[in-house]
Amino acid sequence: MQRDTQIFDLIKDELHRQRRGLELIASENFTSLQVMQAMGNVMTNKYAEGYPGKRYYGGCEVVDLSEQLAIDRAKEIFGVNYVNVQPHSGAQANTAVQFAVLQPGDAILGLDLSMGGHLTHGSPVTYSGKIYQAHHYGVRKEDGRVDYDALEAKAKEVKPKLIICGASAYARDWDYARIRQVADQVGALVLADIAHPAGLIAAGLLNSPFDHCHFVTSTTHKTLRGPRGGIIMMKHDFENPWGIKTPKGEVRMMSALLDLAVFPGIQGGPLEHVIAAKAVSFYEILQPEYKTYAARMQQNAQALATAFINKGYDIVSGGTDNHLLLIDLRNKGISGKKAENTLVKADITLNKNMVPFDDKSPFITSGIRVGVPAITTRGLKESDMEQVAVWLDAVLMQPDNEDIIAKVRGEVNEFMQQFPLYPEMD
Ligand SMILES: Cc1ncc(COP(=O)(O)O)c(C=O)c1O
Repeated sequence: MQRDTQIFDLIKDELHRQRRGLELIASENFTSLQVMQAMGNVMTNKYAEGYPGKRYYGGCEVVDLSEQLAIDRAKEIFGVNYVNVQPHSGAQANTAVQFAVLQPGDAILGLDLSMGGHLTHGSPVTYSGKIYQAHHYGVRKEDGRVDYDALEAKAKEVKPKLIICGASAYARDWDYARIRQVADQVGALVLADIAHPAGLIAAGLLNSPFDHCHFVTSTTHKTLRGPRGGIIMMKHDFENPWGIKTPKGEVRMMSALLDLAVFPGIQGGPLEHVIAAKAVSFYEILQPEYKTYAARMQQNAQALATAFINKGYDIVSGGTDNHLLLIDLRNKGISGKKAENTLVKADITLNKNMVPFDDKSPFITSGIRVGVPAITTRGLKESDMEQVAVWLDAVLMQPDNEDIIAKVRGEVNEFMQQFPLYPEMD
């Protein structure tokens, strides 16, 4: 067969783009070579609807072992008794939990999208805001932190069946115990979506949700540094409190309901090649080097926050506990959209982001989200963060000055050569 040179040329272009730039998108990372190799393997050819030992197709004896290894390693990392590694993405993991425990029209309560929450936590543009009756809590204006008192008041008012915590753009740790207290008062279950900080939680650097939240979902490709995908976990299985029945009319344990929600509820055949790559990334997380990586991420984020604060930038909540910062650019006279579009010309990638109480639309925004998982994987350290802030500041302060943009791009490209990315691919 003829080789598809068009796509392979584009893959080469993408490799060069990733190599030369400063990657500050908080939800991105660079997998190891072996994680990527595991993703491109013959398991992509295999249909394996069902779960290890209970499949609807023959010939699953090898993928059973691989999927079980992924499950066992995730259990070890997070100290949990139930793991489903089949969700194709973080959104699918959240959809499955909601599908398992909610009926159409049930009330849910999640962090507002404009305050850092995720689309699947009840945004009206997604299934979660269309199928369920979605309510939201937010952050306090004075300090940018989750307003747990308002969350409690809202929960008592709307009596949600599911309270969702976790965020896409929130730099502070979560008080999972407080949320569980509220949930118990109103008879709700709690889902913690740790898609962003999962790696820091795995390394013991942030509060653990597992003792307090009934369900925990995550992506595997952000701070966990695995392949693109999702995962669902529970520390303990439990009897479902509302007598929810399976399609056959049986009342089953939550683990069975979750498994049924993923397949056949919302997905078909699992991506066994991606599950193999998840297993490889979990193996890497279990090595001592990963703890060093996670600690470095947190140190880098804090150093970067300090560098921006020293340059007069307004960091939402005044700093960070995790791997990202949210910068409110209103005092700098540039929108998030312009910042994103200008920085990309200097080979610096990040995303525009709404800030709490934003007066601009989601397409313009007043802020940017800056994350360090990818640059930490490249090898940048705390001492490099001042330079990173200097480059961003130079471009943001004179966004129409093409000479400055070109100068910064040249410096970034030269600097990044010190941190080889996939040298084996040359
Ligand atoms: C908190 C949170 N949950 C879920 C997701 C969805 O993950 P995916 O893009 O894999 O569907 C994201 C993605 O950014 C996220 O930030």
